[in-house]
Amino acid sequence: MSNFFVRLLSSLFTFSLIMSGSSVASAATNDTLVVYFSATGNTRAMAATISTAIGADTYEIVPQEPYSEDDLNYHNESCRANNEQRNATLRPKLKALDADLTPYKTVILAYPLWWAEEPRIVDTFIESYDFSGKTVVPVCTSGSSDIAQSIVNLKKNIKGKPSFKEGKRFSSHVTADEFKSWYESL
Ligand SMILES: Cc1cc2nc3c(=O)[nH]c(=O)nc-3n(C[C@H](O)[C@H](O)[C@H](O)COP(=O)(O)O)c2cc1C
Repeated sequence: MSNFFVRLLSSLFTFSLIMSGSSVASAATNDTLVVYFSATGNTRAMAATISTAIGADTYEIVPQEPYSEDDLNYHNESCRANNEQRNATLRPKLKALDADLTPYKTVILAYPLWWAEEPRIVDTFIESYDFSGKTVVPVCTSGSSDIAQSIVNLKKNIKGKPSFKEGKRFSSHVTADEFKSWYESL
């Protein structure tokens, strides 16, 4: 074989090793999924920051019926969001049941606070999937309310008795460094 072909074969081999190596590496390190719900974009921004900070995948909880501005107008006592929050057993439908939690050890659950609790659609999600053997880390965005009551609710409703790590409320402007240093301290 000429030198040229030896060199060509060798570079092809090296290239395929790099390609397979990189996909194995990402499958091995990406054992964390950020599952988020966001009605007005704040929690989506936080989920993107978290994904960058720790190299996690993301999955968005999408309601079958999107929330309009009127639905979210909490000054109106009977808006959709207020009606849903008033009834702890109400479960708005998901658009799809296509999340695959199987490859992930840890699920970071990210949501806004509505009347100091998780939106009911988050309860729909955590009752629709099996979290057995996983670790759940709850994080939320809010105007100012604390995450505590939502964690009580999540622990009560979630399917599969996962272990929970301490949760935290963040500003939607949390930086990757800020999130990472909290996450690593858990
Ligand atoms: C129906 C509704 C109720 C809310 N209730 C609270 C609340 O009790 N406490 C609070 O601090 N913020 C509250 N907020 C503000 C949201 O938690 C905050 O704007 C959040 O970052 C929105 O996230 P999103 O943009 O991902 O939907 C409420 C917002 C809505 C729409």
